[in-house]
Amino acid sequence: MLDVLTTPLQRLLRERKPGHSLPAAFYLSPEVFEADMEHIFGKHWIYVGVEPDVPEPGDVAVFDIGKASIAVVRDEGGEVRAYHNVCRHRGARLVEDEKTTVGNLVCRYHSWTYDLTGALIHADHMGPGFDRACHGLKPVHIRSLEGLLFVCLADEPPADFDDMARRLGPYLAPHNVRGTKVAFQSDIVEPGNWKLTMENNRECYHCGVNHPELTVPLFAYGFGFAPEEMDEHDRAEAERYGRLLTSRHADWEAAGLPSREIDELDTMVTGFRTERLPLDGEGESHTLDTRAACRKLLGDFTSAKLGGLSVWTQPNSWHHFLGDHIITFSVLPLDADRSLLRTKWLVRKDAVEGVDYDLANLTGVWLATNDQDSHLVGLCHKGAQSPGYEPGPYSPNTEMLVDKFVNWYAGRMAAHVGR
Ligand code: FES
Ligand SMILES: [Fe+2]
Repeated sequence: MLDVLTTPLQRLLRERKPGHSLPAAFYLSPEVFEADMEHIFGKHWIYVGVEPDVPEPGDVAVFDIGKASIAVVRDEGGEVRAYHNVCRHRGARLVEDEKTTVGNLVCRYHSWTYDLTGALIHADHMGPGFDRACHGLKPVHIRSLEGLLFVCLADEPPADFDDMARRLGPYLAPHNVRGTKVAFQSDIVEPGNWKLTMENNRECYHCGVNHPELTVPLFAYGFGFAPEEMDEHDRAEAERYGRLLTSRHADWEAAGLPSREIDELDTMVTGFRTERLPLDGEGESHTLDTRAACRKLLGDFTSAKLGGLSVWTQPNSWHHFLGDHIITFSVLPLDADRSLLRTKWLVRKDAVEGVDYDLANLTGVWLATNDQDSHLVGLCHKGAQSPGYEPGPYSPNTEMLVDKFVNWYAGRMAAHVGR
């Protein structure tokens, strides 16, 4: 293509140096942010929440993806549906609360009323020629992957969701998300671009120095390392971890728990990765004493010594499935400079706070870790604003997943805007 026909975004994509952090405009420019919302968040499967956000018929949960507001509703038949949260009369925002329970969805402006299947069932004074059937709520594609809810705003969502669901489903199913409740949710606004939040999540190069709580249950050697830079003792420890990983995978798989790595982070439109990893200490949970935080275990588990099943999806989620609880994270961009990190802690539906689990113990490790990460994201966002910023190299031993995230991002963007 002649250079005069190249758009600024195409030029930025061409300038990107593989294996390096992105040119600053990708993190800072409002135009790139608009393109991110249109092409990445508007055309891919976005993780928003869990079925336990809407446990009963009539329950509604609202999720905002940029300017799109989406109402997720459980209908009378128990099916989870999603609609644009926009009244079909004059466009008022229909559901104002983040969570509510309704009989029907009633617009407060002129009382147009929709049933839980989105059909317009009541609209006064519209005259004889008015066809209610043409004014139902606009549906949004929604899929539940063993209880994890993904929505897609595109008319034709990426078809490979089915492939992800078929391969990831057996890993998730034993943890029985549908049999849980949301014990706690934390929303924090990170002072940085959403891609910096994602990049930060995709590596643990920074964990040793920054996460004193998280590194209690997590093994340092699980984060990747450069063997040639290690002394004999550390190399022996790393080898011990490698043997532990192999033998645990074999044990868990023999017990019916899929555990081995699948990595499709930059090889599918709906990129994802999973692996079950051993935990340090008692090996049970992401807690400061490495023991289960909830006495009632998930699903049919009889032991909590299951390590942690980690799941990553592009562009905006990661999850840790333990024997006793689940921690699930979604990143929703607010503007080029701010991102909403939403974390949910799920425990068995019949677990009782103060009896089966202590909320501070359950949430302690990740509340601290999120705060630490938010600060790091802010530092990178500030750095990208400086004239001294230049894309820097990712570590080939510890930042492989960061590289896959930006590869996925750049590839998906190029697929939609050209390069
Ligand atoms: S805008 Fe909703 S009823 Fe008028
Ligand atoms: Fe971190």
